[in-house]
Amino acid sequence: MTVNFSSDNETPVASAMMEAIVAANQGTATAYAEDAWSGRLDQAFSELFRTEAIVIPVSTGTVANAIALATVTPPWGSVYCHQSAHIQNDESGAPEFFGNGLRLVPVAGSAGKLNLDSLAQSMLATEGHGVHSYLPSALSLTQSTESGTVYTADEIRGLCKFAHQHNMKTHMDGARFANAVVSLGCHPAEITSEAGIDMLSFGASKNGCMAAEALVIFKQPQWRETAERLRKRSGHLLSKMRYISAQLLAYIENDRWLEMATHANRQAAMFAQAVQGHPHVNLEYPAQANEVFVRWTSEGFTQLESQDIEFQRWPGRDDLARFVFAHSTTDEETQYLIHALG
Ligand SMILES: Cc1ncc(COP(=O)(O)O)c(C=O)c1O
Repeated sequence: MTVNFSSDNETPVASAMMEAIVAANQGTATAYAEDAWSGRLDQAFSELFRTEAIVIPVSTGTVANAIALATVTPPWGSVYCHQSAHIQNDESGAPEFFGNGLRLVPVAGSAGKLNLDSLAQSMLATEGHGVHSYLPSALSLTQSTESGTVYTADEIRGLCKFAHQHNMKTHMDGARFANAVVSLGCHPAEITSEAGIDMLSFGASKNGCMAAEALVIFKQPQWRETAERLRKRSGHLLSKMRYISAQLLAYIENDRWLEMATHANRQAAMFAQAVQGHPHVNLEYPAQANEVFVRWTSEGFTQLESQDIEFQRWPGRDDLARFVFAHSTTDEETQYLIHALG
């Protein structure tokens, strides 16, 4: 059998989401997010996050991030992010493009996380240059991080407080937000709106949906028009938005999103435990969500590949690979991988 731990983007759509699409596929519905499903999103997400939320459904996480940052950052503004952030490394300059030249400032930090010291140092280094420098405008955190780690509510609160004290807005790239919520066992509001996050790219495609993501704006209704215009200009105001919105509603209904993430995290934890018990294989970072980064020999990884196990060898590192677990990963698949470690 071939087992795939390459990416949660490669997983199938959950049957509940397919059912939501089929249920929405009855008769006509007004186009361009004026349909009944899209009309329910603000209310449903306001309840979920215990605060006023504006929901802008889109089809990719890249565009959710780009629209979010461009909404609050002028062309002469800068956005601080971790040096491994998706916006920095994997979006082909989309934030700069939609932000008309805004600047991303990559900041160091261990295990994929920004910390207050590195952020302050990076930001304060440019202070005092006035119009000669970029205007610090936003902070973007990824939760869970690109290293499979998770910011605590306290860490997020501290970083957001610092950002707001310096007149910056705060954004969370939540491509794997569900996995972080489950990992922390917290309420979703505790690590977003209640911790000082202004905007969340709410990821759903990696955790069971099909091309369904959303930009969620907390308590800032005045940003809606800019964000909606940017969505149109990006080509993400889908005429048949009902199919995206119906998925988002079904995703959060009855904690389905958390159930799927719980399953994914549990598979990752089983594998991480096996790695920790292995004499020659190591975890590169604490495995706190659904991604496990493993340090081993290149020959070790080749031996897994020869057993039809797919995963991602980390670019530029012979000794590092990433294994991703998802809502659809079975116990059998995880056990097969563990057994193959030897
Ligand atoms: C951390 C992170 N942010 C955002 C995205 C969104 O990507 P996409 O535009 O492919 O939906 C991804 C996808 O891999 C990601 O890993």
